[in-house]
Amino acid sequence: MEIVKSVLEVRRVIAAARKSGKTIGFIPTMGALHEGHLSLIRASKKKTSLAVVSIYVNPTQFAPSEDLEKYPRPIEKDIALLEKENTDVLFLPSNDEIYPKGFSTFVTVGDITEGFEGLLRPTHFRGVATVVASLFNIIQPDVAFFGQKDLQQAAVIKRMVRDLHFPVQIEICKTVREGDGLAMSSRNRYLDLQEREEALILSQTLLNAQDNLQSGLSFADVKLKGAKFFDKLKKKAILEYLDIINPETFQLADSFKAKEDVAIIIAARIGEARLIDNVLVSKK
Ligand code: PAF
Repeated sequence: MEIVKSVLEVRRVIAAARKSGKTIGFIPTMGALHEGHLSLIRASKKKTSLAVVSIYVNPTQFAPSEDLEKYPRPIEKDIALLEKENTDVLFLPSNDEIYPKGFSTFVTVGDITEGFEGLLRPTHFRGVATVVASLFNIIQPDVAFFGQKDLQQAAVIKRMVRDLHFPVQIEICKTVREGDGLAMSSRNRYLDLQEREEALILSQTLLNAQDNLQSGLSFADVKLKGAKFFDKLKKKAILEYLDIINPETFQLADSFKAKEDVAIIIAARIGEARLIDNVLVSKK
């Protein structure tokens, strides 16, 4: 695996690969890699011939009150995992590479960022869209891979790519779960043993809502029953939202529309950790 730290150098490596006929797959990450990230690398290796991973903890997507300093950075372990997956290139830029002195250009995606994560973390998606746009311009991938777990982020990136005509295909890969159902996340490492057990409340509440939705309950009742189910199970978890939305627009859905899936989305705080999860549901 080639480890590259500058924009100039990564462009050189990718230009050479392109010249020799390779297609470029790109997996942007903030490190602290887990099976979810590794599944994106495997998807990239299947579909394209050069798998490029970036590890960059992007400061502009963290609010001052959030966990930027504390965000895990186990770089040696990450490199070993990437080597094992036969990753071709690791792009490991510094803050100065991504945000040169005097940086003042941001990408703001409209209404799709207003609710849910965008409401609770008002500057988050501006930071995500800006860094992803910048990374797309640096790497110029044919295909970029993102996880379904961050469903709103996936929708924001797809919208940005469509609106600004980025020549990249976006692939959203299924959420990878622990054996007991907990969605894999770098933030799971903030959970102590008891909190880890309680964290199952997210996937269990989603399952409850999914069952109710598929058995024909109204969307309003599914949400009410889901919130009650969560309340019964919780010890210290705090439910932030449980909603049913259109996964492309992130607008609230109140019934199934022809052929369109809906997504049930959930966010909860458990101790220091803030966790999100979702499931896509089709009309039966
Ligand atoms: O999902 C993430 O890890 C980050 O939001 C991303 C897409 C790498 C941008 O910093």
